[in-house]
Amino acid sequence: MIISLIAAMDLNRAIGYKNQLPWKHLPADWDNLKKVTAGKKMIMGRRSYESPDRLWSEAGNVVITRQPDYQTDKGFLVADTLEKALQLVGDVDEIFILGGEEIFRISLPLADRIYLTIVKGTFQADAFFPEFIVSDFQIIQHDDHQADSENPYDYTFIIYERK
Ligand SMILES: NC(=O)c1ccc[n+]([C@@H]2O[C@H](COP(=O)([O-])OP(=O)(O)OC[C@H]3O[C@@H](n4cnc5c(N)ncnc54)[C@H](OP(=O)(O)O)[C@@H]3O)[C@@H](O)[C@H]2O)c1
Repeated sequence: MIISLIAAMDLNRAIGYKNQLPWKHLPADWDNLKKVTAGKKMIMGRRSYESPDRLWSEAGNVVITRQPDYQTDKGFLVADTLEKALQLVGDVDEIFILGGEEIFRISLPLADRIYLTIVKGTFQADAFFPEFIVSDFQIIQHDDHQADSENPYDYTFIIYERK
């Protein structure tokens, strides 16, 4: 199984503020995420699950929480560790870990790939994408994009793959 993290961060590594995305509108990132994760199962932290910006996959989802008896909507399973979440996912070719900060922190050591969008701005934030050892990874894709009428910031899609 390929373990992939997928995140969008600003120039200060910001990924969230008050349990939402720090930026209001960047539909190109949304579209990219949907394209990249199509048909793949997802794992997310409980706070990201509760975010208004919550994402999910038709293929299946697991929420990580330490709360016993945590109730979720249909289509979401619950696990109390990352390892159990990965077991629940079962035998798939690629799993996407959607964050947020706490879940990225514990899953980075296991990451085979990191799909990172760099949003070229700085925003108020209380959640950040953790630092990782960039030299452990090679960049297999790097696409720069300019702001346009729909997307108010320049942004870059990068895919890192563990060497
Ligand atoms: N820009 C992006 O790409 C992106 C992606 C996703 C999320 N976000 C943002 O990130 C922010 C949320 O990040 P966050 O760090 O606050 O929350 P989070 O990682 O989504 O969820 C944290 C919760 O996960 C559970 N958890 C964490 N570590 C655990 C462990 N080792 N074992 C079992 N359960 C564990 C705990 O749930 P319980 O408290 O229930 O036990 C914890 O409160 C939001 O602002 C969201 O919008 C941004």
